[in-house]
Amino acid sequence: MSPAERIEVLRRDIRSHDHRYFVLDDPVISDYDYDMLVAELQDLESAHPELITPDSPTQRVGGEPSATFPVVRHPVPMLSIGNTYNDEEIRDFDRRIRDLLGPEREYAYAVELKIDGVAVSLRYEDGALALGATRGDGEQGDDITANLRTIRSIPLRIAEEEPLLNNIEVRGEVYLPHDGFEALNASRAEREEPLFANPRNATSGSLKLRDPRVVAERPLRVFLYTLRFEDEAGALAARPDLDSHFQRLHWLADQGFPTNREARRFAAVDEVIEFCHDWEERRSTLSYDIDGMVIKVDSIGLHGELGATMKSPRWAIASKFAAQRARTRLTDIRLQVGRTGVVTPVAELEPVFLAGSTISRATLHNEEEIQRKDLRVGDTVWIEKGGDVIPKVVSADLDEREDGSTPFEMPTACPVCETALVRVGEEVAWRCGNAACPAQTQARVTHFTGRNAMDIEGFGPAVTEQILGNGLIGDVGDIYRLTREQLGTLERMGEKSADNLLGGIEASKDRPLDRLLFSLGIPHVGERAARQIAEHFRSIDAVGAATEVGLVAVPEIGPKIAESIVSFFQNERNLEIIEKLRDAGLRMELDAPADGADSGAESGEDTRALADKIVVITGTLSNYTRDEMAGLIESAGGRVTSSVSKKTDYLVAGENAGSKLKKAQSLGVEILNEEETEALISGERSP
Ligand code: IVH
Repeated sequence: MSPAERIEVLRRDIRSHDHRYFVLDDPVISDYDYDMLVAELQDLESAHPELITPDSPTQRVGGEPSATFPVVRHPVPMLSIGNTYNDEEIRDFDRRIRDLLGPEREYAYAVELKIDGVAVSLRYEDGALALGATRGDGEQGDDITANLRTIRSIPLRIAEEEPLLNNIEVRGEVYLPHDGFEALNASRAEREEPLFANPRNATSGSLKLRDPRVVAERPLRVFLYTLRFEDEAGALAARPDLDSHFQRLHWLADQGFPTNREARRFAAVDEVIEFCHDWEERRSTLSYDIDGMVIKVDSIGLHGELGATMKSPRWAIASKFAAQRARTRLTDIRLQVGRTGVVTPVAELEPVFLAGSTISRATLHNEEEIQRKDLRVGDTVWIEKGGDVIPKVVSADLDEREDGSTPFEMPTACPVCETALVRVGEEVAWRCGNAACPAQTQARVTHFTGRNAMDIEGFGPAVTEQILGNGLIGDVGDIYRLTREQLGTLERMGEKSADNLLGGIEASKDRPLDRLLFSLGIPHVGERAARQIAEHFRSIDAVGAATEVGLVAVPEIGPKIAESIVSFFQNERNLEIIEKLRDAGLRMELDAPADGADSGAESGEDTRALADKIVVITGTLSNYTRDEMAGLIESAGGRVTSSVSKKTDYLVAGENAGSKLKKAQSLGVEILNEEETEALISGERSP
């Protein structure tokens, strides 16, 4: 088989596995086997770059961030649809259809979930994805092709079962499932970035990102529901063989497009109404948000007859669900001090039941948020479940506001230790700058012992408070010095619970390096970042010795995290804690890679082209940013450092290299240009 043939086979296989995994949710091979196929394709493509095509599965994420999105005009406007809010309005819609078509005509409805996401259009030319756009104002939207290509369930090429003579356009809704939304917000919270209010905002924010590489990390999904065929001239082509909307949904699914499986066809409006009610009840069982149902006349031919008004088609209507809202009283605004000292205002609410749970508390995020909404203690407020999960205070009911209420004022001192609050730089958050603040210590201990961190069994909030309150520990390093006698002095702590707690503490010593790194509570370092760093540096000492340049070379580590890590390890108090943990016998190094075929790692020596080489990058490169070059070097096993020394193996020098180049020359360090570095990494040139 020629490389070109093998490439085609691999692409077809990978496409089919992507479809099984991302669309059908039914993979048939292991992640490892899949990765092997991709790796083989990547190798072949880098050996034969002339064979790379834009629809190759390796080409989902690419290109440089764009400054702006080109505007594209929709050949057929993307209309919106009218809304109905009760059964009577759905019956009115049905009556209008009957009046327009005449009493003799038969018709049926296709009823779908109304996905609460962002509408997009995808154009396929000769079977390959050519353009992806937002709805915009309906007439013209933004060309966000590069961002949409990163959504793995969107086919870059459609299955070729049916020869497609001309181009097609499909439309649908991009959305973020609940788990993806929560993971995204959790990692934003860790990095102290503003949170998205709901999955729809997160989706729309993600699609507007300038850098497709960042979009690729957002677990966006899509459901497609509209299909338009074009004739050779690009005009709307009739497809009498596919006259039913319902059939078209099946056609889309057959071609590999993700479609929602809950659509149904009904002949009678009563059935339509019942189906809508049914989903209003069951909406919380879905793993994504819907804000209603969409009712469409099923026959495509009738769409033409019924036509459209300026804004919306006459053949479709939305049945909107009542918002999941509740009213209650804001009894207090309390300040919560986090482990990094950030002070977050929290609404204390009169308990109220909303969409499956009782709510008595909701974050108010920050001072500005409260001022913007002018929320006051004593107000009657509307609360909503953002993404159906996280409760938020939407607004105050001004009609109910009591006389003499006063606007919220942010206290100037920490509610716990009374240290003056400070604002750092541009941040909206106020912080307690006292690292020894009991609230911060408590939050750090809670973080350290938590399920995702060191996972110390028995170290719950009450025990933590007792242990801290009695001064048994001053920081997390002291946890491992706790004795049976000390614990015995605590109220309600019997011998048995003391032993259990000590057992939990002992067991936690065995947690892997990435958990330990995460547990330390380094600002901005979440679980993912901790994993990347642990894998890369392999010991806590190497992390502590890393420079910002070395850190940003690690995948997914940006300058903010890098700076935070460096400053964490410059702090004497933190170093003392690490020494205590070391003395206690915690794992300070990465375990040897696990055996077994799945790991893909060799237990022996690192055979990558730049294994153990220390590399410095200087000057302006023409084909890469420095970060990208650092990434390449890292992936070949090299370490990137910031300054040239006797230990430096290579200096990669771009245009206008200055003092580092001179120093490297004087020390006899080997100097490489971009091409030479590429050759070294690809193995074409030996070290
Ligand atoms: S059909 C001309 N079907 O709701 C009809 N829209 O208010 C085009 N939406 O812009 C829309 N789920 O963003 C249709 N199953 C569905 C939908 C859906 C969500 C959104 C879409 C549209 C808006 C209309």
